[in-house]
Amino acid sequence: MLIHSASQLLTLAGGPQRGHDLGRLGIIPNGAVVFRDQTILAVGPTAELRQAYPNEPCLDASDKVVMPGFVDPHTHAIWVGDRAAEFEMRLQGKSYMEILAAGGGILSTVHATRTASLGKMMAETRPRLWNMFNFGTTTAEVKTGYGLRAAVELRMLQALLALNAEGPLELGFTFLGAHAIPPEYNQCPDEYVDVMCETILPILLEWWPHHAPDFHLPFVDVFCERGAFSLEHSRRLLSRAKELGFPTKIHADEFENLGGASLAAEIGSASADHLVKTSIEDITTLGKSNTVAVALPCTPFGLSEHLYTPAQAILDAGGILALATDLNPGTAWCENMQFSIALACRYMRLTPAQAIAAATINSAQAIHMADRVGSLEPGKQADLLMLHVADYRHLGYRFGSNLVQTVVKKGRIYPV
Ligand code: NIG
Ligand code: FE
Repeated sequence: MLIHSASQLLTLAGGPQRGHDLGRLGIIPNGAVVFRDQTILAVGPTAELRQAYPNEPCLDASDKVVMPGFVDPHTHAIWVGDRAAEFEMRLQGKSYMEILAAGGGILSTVHATRTASLGKMMAETRPRLWNMFNFGTTTAEVKTGYGLRAAVELRMLQALLALNAEGPLELGFTFLGAHAIPPEYNQCPDEYVDVMCETILPILLEWWPHHAPDFHLPFVDVFCERGAFSLEHSRRLLSRAKELGFPTKIHADEFENLGGASLAAEIGSASADHLVKTSIEDITTLGKSNTVAVALPCTPFGLSEHLYTPAQAILDAGGILALATDLNPGTAWCENMQFSIALACRYMRLTPAQAIAAATINSAQAIHMADRVGSLEPGKQADLLMLHVADYRHLGYRFGSNLVQTVVKKGRIYPV
């Protein structure tokens, strides 16, 4: 298949973009891309590719932007139950962490998810994955974290593996058994950390190759925050995960600066996520590391808060900045990376070009998939979007509508 005559073809070629290098779109005016089966064969000017591939079936992209599919590197897309009442409580003045401390919030979703069958988990999650796909996300990381006990966390992983097999949205997997202190460990959180380190992570290590033989080990993530897991808890969990061979991630500084970003750099985590209250020291440490800084602007927006991830400081420090939605039932029910980009432009002061790079090649790096997705280059997976606009800056500029006209996933064409 040859997609040709794109007003702007954004390749994002050349790998993850560090610091102020962010925003290299690799634009080819009047561009074209050729793919066969699941793989990109060539990218270049239309005239050249038409000549090189004269008999290829064609798709005309005149007056359209063609670009890589979005990679959403941080979601909690799988859950069961409803939290609309909690949204109203927050509007009336209760804080997110107060609601959690009173046994609601994450724990109310845990309650609903623990009793749900595999089929129910899949049925509630499937439409959200389709929404993401129709908004142009072709690959998304999804976290467990609403079971907080081995059997339910593994059932969530099983549901995610089955949903991934259904497609078309391709998933990356993260084990977030340390999302909240389970109610049964309320008085003894240290014990839950012991159980995670000594029992649950080894169970996962044993379980994974039997249930997911074709996939790398999942990431192990922790919510490092007062009222959830302390910095010491997080260090123990992530060190143990690393020792067992798991790649790691961390939720750091969403509400308070506990030092999670520096911990991620120390451990060599794939990413540190949220980073709203991160100190300049932590940002400096993170910027020197290969840990990707994942900003989630839908979250402060969803919580009506005014502070966003300090993107300029992260870029000044040389960090690898990525964007995600954080799709979850508590702080940010947003399936749309285009909205995350629109917020990042306004509140993190990114240009559309920077936000697009953060939402494609850099977000692929945050989930260790940058060798396969996140850019349009020969040999990479044919995951791409045709937008119904001619100028990429409409991403960021516009919000609330869907600019995606066609999604191509692994070489298959899906009209939106
Ligand atoms: O990233 N902060 C922790 N986890 C999610 C919220 C999950 C929930 O409220 O259910 C987040 O914001
Ligand atoms: Fe999260």
